[in-house]
Amino acid sequence: MFQERQQELLRRLKSSNREGPWPLAPATMRNPASAYTDPARFEAERDLLFEQRPQMIGLSCELREPGSYMALSLGRIPALIVRQRDGSLKGFVNACRHRGAPVVEPDGPPRPRFSCPYHGWVYDLDGALHARPYAEPAFDDVPKAECGLLPISVAEGYGLIFAQGRGGEGLTAAAALHGAEVELEGFGLGGCVHVESREHEWDFNWKLVLDTFTEAYHIRFLHKTSIAPTYLSDLSLFDSFGPHPRMIGLLKTALQEIEKPDEADWRLLPHGTTQYIFMPSGLITWQRDHVELWRVTPLSPNRTRVRTSLYAPQEPATEKARAYWKKNLDMLMDVTSREDFTLMAEIQKGLESGALPELIYGKNEPSLIHLHRAINQALEAR
Ligand code: FES
Ligand SMILES: [Fe+2]
Repeated sequence: MFQERQQELLRRLKSSNREGPWPLAPATMRNPASAYTDPARFEAERDLLFEQRPQMIGLSCELREPGSYMALSLGRIPALIVRQRDGSLKGFVNACRHRGAPVVEPDGPPRPRFSCPYHGWVYDLDGALHARPYAEPAFDDVPKAECGLLPISVAEGYGLIFAQGRGGEGLTAAAALHGAEVELEGFGLGGCVHVESREHEWDFNWKLVLDTFTEAYHIRFLHKTSIAPTYLSDLSLFDSFGPHPRMIGLLKTALQEIEKPDEADWRLLPHGTTQYIFMPSGLITWQRDHVELWRVTPLSPNRTRVRTSLYAPQEPATEKARAYWKKNLDMLMDVTSREDFTLMAEIQKGLESGALPELIYGKNEPSLIHLHRAINQALEAR
C-alpha cells in the first residue's frame, strides 16, 4: 500500500476517533444457521464459488523455477499449476489421461517432466503427453496429441496467482482482484520469499475460517491475554473491492501515529494487520514485516482444509533468521488454533444442533456483512 493511501486511511481514522464510535455498517445482517450446515447449499457453494470463480491460490514466489508446481483442489477439481520454461504459468486438471491418477503429489521439488505414478505416462511441463513407456503399441490408435493434460485457467499479477476450475477463459489477475490491485501493488508481493506452509483440517464450515478474520470486535474477549493488550477492538478500517472485503486491524500505537503533527510522518502499515479477503478462497495478511496467506478448501458442510503460508520480504540468510520466521508461524498457528478455530468448531456443533435459527452480524462487523452479502448474492445469481 502506497504512502498516500496510508495517510488517507489514517485521516479517516483520526476523524472517526474524534467523532466517537467507528462508522458502522448501515444495517445488521441475519444469516440463517443453514448457511453453514445445509448440504444442498454446500454443494452449490462448492460448484458456483469454488469451481466457477477465480480462486486466489498463492504468491508467485512459490513457483519461481521452471518445473516448480502446485497441486491443489479447486472445489472438487484436482488441479496442477506449473511454471513453464518461458516463465509463464499453465494450469491443468491433475488427472492422468490414461486412467485418471493424479500425475503428481501435492508437494515436491521442481521437475523437468511429470511421470504418472500408476503406469508411468510422461507429460511435459506444458501438459503435452511425451511418452507411454513400454506401451506405445497398446495405444497406437490413440494419438499422443489427443492425450495432453486438460487445461485449467490461470492468471498471475501483482505477485499473486489465481486459478479457476471450470470456465475462466481470458482470466486476468486484475479482473479477479476487482480493484484491490491499486493497494496491493505497493506491497511488492512479487519480491517475497516463501518460508513455510502448513495444512490442517477442521470440523467446521469453510466460511467460519474467513469469519474469524473479518472483525476486530472479538479481540477484547477471545484474545484477552494474547493480542488484546496490543490491538484495538473498537476501531478498524474497512473497504471493499467487488466481493472482497479488506480489513485493517489496528495496534493501539496507531492512535499515537495520528497525533504526530506532520501528516507526512504518518505510517499506517507498521501499526496494523492488513487483511484482504478474497471471496471465497482465502485471505492475505500484511503482517507488518511479513505476509501470511490462508487458503480454504471446503471438504463437506462441516469439514475444511486450511493451508497457512508465511512469506518473508527476503530469503532468510541465516539459521537465526529462519528460526525467527518459523517462530512467527508457530505463534500464528497457536493463537488461531487454540483460540479462534477451537471456538469455530464449537460454533459449528451448535449450528448443526438446529437449536439456533440464525446468526446476527453487527453494524460493527462491516467486513463480515460485506463478505456474506457477496456470497449470498453469488448464490442467488445462479
Ligand atoms: S493412470 Fe496414469 S499412466 Fe495409467
Ligand atoms: Fe481472532
